[in-house]
Amino acid sequence: MESMSKVDLLFERHSVRRYLDEKVDPQDIQTILQAGMSAPSARNAQPWEFLVIQDRQRLTECAGIRKFWAMLNEAPLAILVLANLEGYTGSSREFFLQDCSAAAENILLAATALGYGGVWLGIHALEEPQARLRELFGIPESIVPVMMLPIGRPLNPPEAKRRFTPEKIHEERY
Ligand SMILES: Cc1cc2nc3c(=O)[nH]c(=O)nc-3n(C[C@H](O)[C@H](O)[C@H](O)COP(=O)(O)O)c2cc1C
Repeated sequence: MESMSKVDLLFERHSVRRYLDEKVDPQDIQTILQAGMSAPSARNAQPWEFLVIQDRQRLTECAGIRKFWAMLNEAPLAILVLANLEGYTGSSREFFLQDCSAAAENILLAATALGYGGVWLGIHALEEPQARLRELFGIPESIVPVMMLPIGRPLNPPEAKRRFTPEKIHEERY
């Protein structure tokens, strides 16, 4: 593969919120999760865990947690990214959000590469949705829901998108 076409994958990723009524292939789910686990993490602590949700009833219940999560009514799959803070001590504990974010982006990129689309739903800063998810899935206190990633075959054709804002770039000094 030419290096430019590898970079093109990043530009192909965009948030997908409408999906075809089609299950995600189990082998593809494994590849997507493997991509998540291949992300960098502080001190290689890999604090992430993944809750794979395909049950229609459960997905619909998740959709009801927050109005911005309506796409979960349609998504055939959602991956809930969790941080396991047990035994994750010292300075590396401060980095779990960055670690899980790296895993989440890897997951979205792998999904794109396999012809799926997904969207990042932020959870960590939201107390109420976090509590509802803990209750729904029996998630203990030491495990922190960080983000949810609905994934499916896109209903609509891909959007071509490249953002470039020179004002956001600072050379050598702010
Ligand atoms: C931390 C975070 C939280 C987000 N939460 C939501 C959300 O609750 N609902 C939603 O539809 N999209 C959510 N998004 C997706 C953003 O809206 C989307 O990434 C942004 O509009 C840019 O569009 P793009 O992903 O197509 O480039 C979230 C993204 C991030 C990184």
